[in-house]
Parts: sequence; structure tokens; C-alpha cells
Amino acid sequence: MKKFIHDFEVTLNDKISNDCFVLYLKCPVSLPTILPGQFAEILVGNSSEAYLRRPFSIYDVDYQKNELSLLIKEVGKGTLALSKLKIGETLNLVYPLGNSFSIPPGNKALLVGGGVGIAPMLLLSKVLNEKGKQPDVLIGGRSKNDILEPEKYTVYGNLFVTTDDGSMGEKGMVTQHSVFAEKISEYSQIYACGPDPMMKAVAKVAASQNIPCEISLENTMACGIGACLCCVVETVDGNKTTCIEGPVFNTKKLIL
Ligand SMILES: Cc1cc2nc3c(=O)[nH]c(=O)nc-3n(C[C@H](O)[C@H](O)[C@H](O)COP(=O)(O)OP(=O)(O)OC[C@H]3O[C@@H](n4cnc5c(N)ncnc54)[C@H](O)[C@@H]3O)c2cc1C
Ligand code: FES
Repeated sequence: MKKFIHDFEVTLNDKISNDCFVLYLKCPVSLPTILPGQFAEILVGNSSEAYLRRPFSIYDVDYQKNELSLLIKEVGKGTLALSKLKIGETLNLVYPLGNSFSIPPGNKALLVGGGVGIAPMLLLSKVLNEKGKQPDVLIGGRSKNDILEPEKYTVYGNLFVTTDDGSMGEKGMVTQHSVFAEKISEYSQIYACGPDPMMKAVAKVAASQNIPCEISLENTMACGIGACLCCVVETVDGNKTTCIEGPVFNTKKLIL
């Protein structure tokens, strides 16, 4: 798939929680098709300490407005600089990078996201909905503050929530949600993105039910173009780069 490099204009920098924000970015030319699970490498301007591009999943795409958005958690110097961007400033993106989630054969799919790991699930739920599928979205977090923009998912499917402290939805981890106990056999595919232990737990349940499962890995990246090999992951078919051959992998192929 062809890659592009463009200076996008910030049309909105929306702070949605203590440490998370959504950047809305307008493309100077017509946006190419962007598939769910793909990501962009962002040049964080004026930051000598963040000279390597930073990878972020494409959160949503609005082809009519010619905009895409990114859901970002502030964790270090690069994301702090991004959190301060103002309307009208520009941001250089290399995109769309990586592979994408597959479309399931059956009608019902379960999309599981933990914290900011939910980012690629919004575009996936939208695309599944457009293809006539029924996405159930399960979001997990430590507390309700980690459940980011839940209303956006209800446009495309059913929403379920778990929190560790019970402040929103069911109390406990995502795999303890009643969706897993009561509805799991309805799904023809499961997708997950978030902390490693969460993705491993989801993959384990999927394997036990013989349901195909795809996860999106967020390995640390440097070049983003397959050259430095710092994002390599072990699979049953040998080592694969997360930036080129991922970030989406079928869990049957991964050595977890
Ligand atoms: C394919 C892909 C998609 C991603 N999508 C998103 C997204 O949609 N939203 C989002 O907020 N983040 C996403 N990330 C993680 C994001 O790239 C990092 O949080 C970001 O690069 C940190 O930059 P920084 O300069 O602020 O942090 P740094 O100053 O470089 O590091 C600060 C802290 O963040 C940790 N960190 C750095 N890189 C990562 C990483 N890749 N994953 C987890 N922790 C990291 C470091 O270990 C360190 O503890 C994604 C990563 C990948 C590989
Ligand atoms: S980030 Fe360099 S090979 Fe993937």
C-alpha cells in the first residue's frame, strides 16, 4: 500500500481526560483510504529530545472533512509536546503504515480495548458497521477516567465496560465481563489492543473457544520502515517486524 508524507493542519486538540487528548488533523490533499489498525509516524516538531517519529494508531477518519484523528495518552516528552499543539499549527505524518485488521466471515465480532489501547477499535467498529457486521465493543480501564469517549462506539455497535474499581460498567478485568461468560460463542472473530497481559488473557479465551483473534501490538518503534529491527516480534513463521508485517497479528501466529 502506498505511503504518504504530508503536513496536516491541527483543526482541534481536544483534551478528553487528565492525560489523554484527541488531535483532529486536516490533510492538505485528498486522504487516501486508511484501513482499521493502520498507524501514522509523527514528527514531533521543535523537540530535540524526541527526534524519532512517534507511532500512533489512526483513531478515526472523516473523508468528507478530509480529516483524521489520533487518540493520544501523554506518557513522555513527545506526547507532552503534541498535547500543546494549537489550532492552525501543522504536524508532519508518514501514513498509512502497517497492515490492518481482517474483516470477519461471520456477522458478530467482539472488539476489546484497554485504556488508550482502544484507539484502533473506533475505526474498526465503524468499518465493520459499514460492512453490515455487528461489532460489540468492550472497553476496560482502571476507573471511569480511563474509559475514553465511550459514546463514539454506540454509533456503530453495542458497548460494554469494565473497570478495576467498579466506577463504570462491571467491576473486574475485561475477560471477567459477562460478555465473555454469556455471549462468547456468538462471535466469529475477536480483536484486542491494550496492555500485554490483557491481550494475552483475551487471546487465551479466544483459543479455548476456537475463535480467531487478532491483536494490535504497540512495540517500541524507531524507524517505522523495517530498517532498524527494533520492533521485531517472534512468530511461528520466524521473526516479523511490527511496523511492516504488523502491528496486527493473528494470535495463533504469535509466540506469546
Ligand atoms: C503501532 C503503534 C500504535 C500506537 N498507537 C498509539 C495510540 O493510538 N495512542 C497512544 O497514546 N499511543 C500509541 N502508541 C504508543 C506511542 O507511540 C508512545 O506512547 C509514544 O511514542 C511515546 O512517546 P513519548 O515521546 O511521549 O514518550 P517517551 O519519552 O519516548 O517515553 C516515555 C514512556 O513511554 C513509554 N513508551 C514509549 N514508546 C512506547 C510504546 N510504543 N508503547 C508503550 N509505551 C511506550 C516509554 O517506555 C517510557 O516509559 C502506539 C505505538 C505503536 C507502536
Ligand atoms: S521500527 Fe524499525 S524495523 Fe520496525
